[in-house]
Amino acid sequence: MAGSESKQENQGLQEHRVFAPPAEFVASATISGMDAYNALCAEAEADYEGFWARLAREHLDWHKPFTQTLDESQAPFYKWFADGLLNVSYNCLDRNVLNGNAEKTAIIFEADDGQVTRANYRELLERTSKFANGLKARGIKKGDRVIIYMSMSIEGVAAMQACARIGATHSVVFGGFSAKSLQERIIDAGAVAVITADEQLRGGKHLPLKSIVDEALALGGCESVANVIVYKRTGGNIAFNEGRDVWLHDLVDGQSAECEPEWVDAEHPLFILYTSGSTGTPKGVQHASGGFLLWAALTMKWTFDIKPSDVFWCTADIGWVTGHSYIAYGPLAVGATEVVFEGVPTYPNAGRFWDTIAKHKVNIFYTAPTAIRSLIKAADVDPTVHPKNYDLSSLRLLGTVGEPINPEAWMWYYNNVGGARCPVVDTFWQTETGGHMITPLPGATPMVPGSCTLPLPGIMTAIVDEAGHDVPNGQGGILVVKRPWPSMIRTIWNNPERFKAGYFPDELGGRMYLAGDGAIRNKETGYFTITGRIDDVLNVSGHRMGTMEIESALVANPMVAEAAVVGRPDETTGESICAFVVLKQARPTGEDAKRIALELRNWVAKEIGPIAKPKEIRFGDNLPKTRSGKIMRRLLRVLAKGETITQDISTLENPAILEQLKDSN
Ligand code: WT7
Repeated sequence: MAGSESKQENQGLQEHRVFAPPAEFVASATISGMDAYNALCAEAEADYEGFWARLAREHLDWHKPFTQTLDESQAPFYKWFADGLLNVSYNCLDRNVLNGNAEKTAIIFEADDGQVTRANYRELLERTSKFANGLKARGIKKGDRVIIYMSMSIEGVAAMQACARIGATHSVVFGGFSAKSLQERIIDAGAVAVITADEQLRGGKHLPLKSIVDEALALGGCESVANVIVYKRTGGNIAFNEGRDVWLHDLVDGQSAECEPEWVDAEHPLFILYTSGSTGTPKGVQHASGGFLLWAALTMKWTFDIKPSDVFWCTADIGWVTGHSYIAYGPLAVGATEVVFEGVPTYPNAGRFWDTIAKHKVNIFYTAPTAIRSLIKAADVDPTVHPKNYDLSSLRLLGTVGEPINPEAWMWYYNNVGGARCPVVDTFWQTETGGHMITPLPGATPMVPGSCTLPLPGIMTAIVDEAGHDVPNGQGGILVVKRPWPSMIRTIWNNPERFKAGYFPDELGGRMYLAGDGAIRNKETGYFTITGRIDDVLNVSGHRMGTMEIESALVANPMVAEAAVVGRPDETTGESICAFVVLKQARPTGEDAKRIALELRNWVAKEIGPIAKPKEIRFGDNLPKTRSGKIMRRLLRVLAKGETITQDISTLENPAILEQLKDSN
């Protein structure tokens, strides 16, 4: 386990501003006041299983009720509600239709060009059912894995729901990943089908999807894929492989609008979502149907305080976990109306978010700190896109996710977007946790900018040292969760050993979930502040990436002998990627260095995806190494920041190299 060296400023630790939740909000909140919060926490403490069983019965519809709540016999492979039967799509769609919400708008689709289309619950159920029947007609069945490589669309959500309906396990791959990344995920998942679109529209540009699928499949090893289903988004020119490829409109044409849901047990894998770790290739985080859905629904009610009349908007992409929990499943499971957005925050201008909030009278808005920071900058440059120019009076609650939010960005968001009237929920969680873990409750928790405050009821977070002992408040340490919870990761697909070693390490006793983040609790309030990853995982614009992955991509280039990648703090993107590279040829300088750096950046985009492009590449004759040959990354982190090295370098074999690596090309 790596030491808890913090990569972030300890944001919020010196923060003394406190914002009480507004009285009118508290009055109508689902969890109203700290007494209500404390009562729920006490209930979980007193009878942990009873607490979760009650919630699972109240918030989900079961085809067959479960009799056992938590099965720890195979720990850390925990099972929740294991003998209960349910269907996720039934819970998201049918039950709303049956509850009198058939005509209620489920999705308001805001296209890149501003065109709006809507689907109510009845229509979404019909479209999902036809889609599901179409999948079945192509021989896709319960337990099969289906890759979804698609743009933001009603069809993307319907694709996920259709898989859930027939018990197929989906794995959504973000549309920005390369053919090679897509191929790796197809192979690891053993997918039988890929659902995609001809192209996606982002910021007025047509970006390819189907041709990347073709490329991925041509890279080999994907023989399991017998079906490629293509949603016609733009009508762009694409190749068609008759027999294998089918248009979505042809697939659903003539299918019945009714599809009996496949009742699956609660542990049935709902999805696999690949994410980066500190070592090796991306890991397929596997989530279970019952526990995941319970937490997606419950956090919509607790954290977002969702009410029947609310319009909810989460700006994430379905390619990330946020888009799973808070676009594809959570909002639908609670019968909400949500905005699904195809575009980018800066098109046609950087007022797009504010304009869209006004246009659809959004009440609850959930986005990433990196987006907020870039929109602050944009409003400085062009005052016409400042939020004050838009009618944002519909907003009643704001949220952030993905990375720490610096107090100044928090204040700007609170004052300028929320009009100093809307609580801000800074939600800490991870792909592996399935939903929020540590977050303010908008009608209860006094907020402190830069702190995610307190764990949700039933979430037993703690901060420990490297031996797993609790540390006192005010002392930093390793963030862990001491008890299993329903929406937790079940395993890493194809790699239970990596799951066990990575998340339940023996050093911590084998029963504590290791989040991979450092954290500290405030001495007085006990509030948590996340201090950053303690492993070699980077967070660039809220996108998670392993340094090893990027290094492997770099050394795969025939020019490269060796590479080391580190993160460095970045005002807009949180962290940015800085790569130190040794070429097989002599160290390039001047124009040569610039040209090769550009070539390598594009190479990484091709290998992994544009999000993994290093912001900077520096060349050296060697990398700083210990006498035993270990690369000293902590020194590289200092150099990347442009700071002088004051640390001990006595174990360094080649001190002269530092001079070479200290400047940009
Ligand atoms: C990592 C998880 C959660 C969905 C999107 C990202 C960082 C996430 C916060 C927050 C500080 C945060 C952590 C975490 N993170 N939210 N509110 N404050 N850090 O999911 O890609 O699995 O990344 O994002 O470092 O471990 P992910």
